[in-house]
Amino acid sequence: MDINKIRMEFPTLRSDSPPAYLDNACVTLKPDCVVQAITDYYTKTPGCGGRSVHRYGTKVSRATSEARVKLQKFLNAESANEVVFTRNATHSLNQVAHGMKWEEGDVVLTTDREHNSNLVPWIQLEKEQGIDHRIVASNQDNTFNLESFEEACSEAGNRLKLVSMSQVGNLDGVKIPIKEIARIAHDNGALVCVDGAQSAPHMRVDVQDLGIDFMAFSIHKMCGPSGMGGLWGRYELLDDLRTIQSGGQTVSTSTYDSIDWAKPPSRFEGGLGNFSGMIATGSAIDFLSQYDMNDIHAHEVKLNRIMTDGIKDLPGIEIIGPQDPKQRGGICSILMEDLPAHDIAILLDEAAGVMVRSGQHCVHSWFNARGYTNGSLRASAYMYNTEEEARLFAETFSEAVHAFSAQ
Ligand SMILES: Cc1ncc(COP(=O)(O)O)c(C=O)c1O
Repeated sequence: MDINKIRMEFPTLRSDSPPAYLDNACVTLKPDCVVQAITDYYTKTPGCGGRSVHRYGTKVSRATSEARVKLQKFLNAESANEVVFTRNATHSLNQVAHGMKWEEGDVVLTTDREHNSNLVPWIQLEKEQGIDHRIVASNQDNTFNLESFEEACSEAGNRLKLVSMSQVGNLDGVKIPIKEIARIAHDNGALVCVDGAQSAPHMRVDVQDLGIDFMAFSIHKMCGPSGMGGLWGRYELLDDLRTIQSGGQTVSTSTYDSIDWAKPPSRFEGGLGNFSGMIATGSAIDFLSQYDMNDIHAHEVKLNRIMTDGIKDLPGIEIIGPQDPKQRGGICSILMEDLPAHDIAILLDEAAGVMVRSGQHCVHSWFNARGYTNGSLRASAYMYNTEEEARLFAETFSEAVHAFSAQ
């Protein structure tokens, strides 16, 4: 990958003093083609897709269908009808959680390091519908404990209904063995929902090869527009799902007292869609598809090694997860109980233009369970980050730690 060439495609990186943007686990920067697609929609064909048959409507319908096919190919889904446009991964996970049919006592397994978006819906269902949400504890270093998982599956017995886990954690970048997990879950009669928010942007994700049933993902973490996410599901399972937003687009017809549900994906895309977002999603997928996802991942690990090596021996800090960056992709999340993570994050930006995330990263449960009140400071790399930026992060962070420790 020619990183300098890639950088030239991002307006914010072409400026005279571009930031060292290392908050990619939250949201990525947008390349020209994505910005252009959004502008083109509003300036050239600002119509309604899927319904209106005039020129604007037809162009939008065609472009959104093409974007869906691009996503299908990117994920190696069997059909484009298995791809639902959503607002974000949270929306997608809620669609699965509140769209499935539950009986009291049905067991859902997650891990102890899930983003709130793959935790809160299950707790809500536990409180409101009596499902039994259980947590599989990770190993000490946050890696997946396959043995505990197998035990949890057999303990749940025939009440096990769903395993819902993030393939890569936003807390620590740790990847879990989804293919193996899916095999075991299926052997135990359960479905598998994958939170792919942190995997789909950074590695090859082949939903058929993984052998999973649903996957939620965030387009805005894949160089695509804000307000866009996606849900992939095996067609027959989607067809069995209740929509969480009924209305226009979700039915094939209705009478005063009856409805005929539309087939997926329309059933889940109620109301006028984010057409510019869908079309720009296609552009983001075109952009990413120029590269080998394995190269993107390898580049991120290389940068993470520079960040990790530069900070790991600092006093009063601890890297969350395994110490080897190979097991944390592009994420370097640093726990520092006696240092102010937010203040350091502000300082890094103001003093050196290094943008990172501080806080609990929507994984409050992990921090609360361990009594960590300060959260962590997280640097997360992507395809356009450079080795110089990784070094700059390590140097400025080290200086900040020394400065705050001396106070
Ligand atoms: C692992 C994980 N799951 C879910 C989400 C929620 O994604 P979205 O903001 O697209 O709803 C995030 C966002 O950071 C995440 O990192």
